[in-house]
Amino acid sequence: MSKVTVVGAGNVGATCANVLAVHEVADRVCLIDIKEGLAEGKAMDIMQTAQLMGFDTVVEGVTNDYSRTAGSDVVIITSGIPRKPGMTREELIGVNAGIVKSVATQVLTYSPDAILIVVSNPMDTMAYLTLHALGLPRNRVIGMGGALDSARLRYYLSQALNCNANDVDGFVIGGHGDTTMIPLKSFMTYKGVHVSHLLSDEEIDDVVKKTMVGGATLTGLLGTSAWMAPGAAAASVAESIIRDQKKMIPCSVSLEGEYGMKDITIGVPCIIGRNGLEKVLELQLSQDEMEQLRNSEAAVRKTTAVLKDLNVL
Ligand code: LAC
Repeated sequence: MSKVTVVGAGNVGATCANVLAVHEVADRVCLIDIKEGLAEGKAMDIMQTAQLMGFDTVVEGVTNDYSRTAGSDVVIITSGIPRKPGMTREELIGVNAGIVKSVATQVLTYSPDAILIVVSNPMDTMAYLTLHALGLPRNRVIGMGGALDSARLRYYLSQALNCNANDVDGFVIGGHGDTTMIPLKSFMTYKGVHVSHLLSDEEIDDVVKKTMVGGATLTGLLGTSAWMAPGAAAASVAESIIRDQKKMIPCSVSLEGEYGMKDITIGVPCIIGRNGLEKVLELQLSQDEMEQLRNSEAAVRKTTAVLKDLNVL
């Protein structure tokens, strides 16, 4: 029996639970929230699509009782407040740090071996906090930002090429922030062909720019942060773990010397399997990309340093 818990039944958490169910990623999905009735309602709504969508996964909704999350293989943490138009992800740290730490502590009480996927923002810093506050090995804490940003990159790339998003490849490393993420130009391809054969430099730069503010664009349109792609991105990381797919997914993980960095949680290409983070891929980056990574590192370190002032570490 496989079980995934999703903490937070807001837009992202509920979407994530729905994708997990529709794709039958796990036998059971537990959706938990502090707001009375919210998780129960969302879970019931999802379960009423079981016959329509043809899935067997059982989704249950729970208010606050963490004992019901017991035995989870994977726990996805979406709790905390989302950003409003004009806000950066970094501004959420004060409120979200305490919530994420408390949630992670409670889920580990009942699922001591679970692998944790962190969605809450600022995502790289929340992953760092979870890892260090709980003293977990690095394979068990994975921030999902790169999976989301890379999906957005492929969307914008497919728009520029007027092609199917499944035919393009490319990914984003660095921090999960409007100015810290790095859509890697060297690895953007269409069916294995580098996109420089098909798009002008200006068109490629436009894809990069749109990807970087992908989340902010949606926050402006929706009045709150996006949920479809964030929920599906978290579910895709969970799927690679539960099914031991060993997919290469850019995720925010703790580095131990890779790319010349230590004591930081930041987005890099990862192999994700049954043990969570199984390997960090060290790719040859261009000089320009390496420079961007150094700048992103500095920015992520600055946000992460705030955790000390907040007394959560
Ligand atoms: C986004 C938020 C979830 O990028 O970080 O949409």
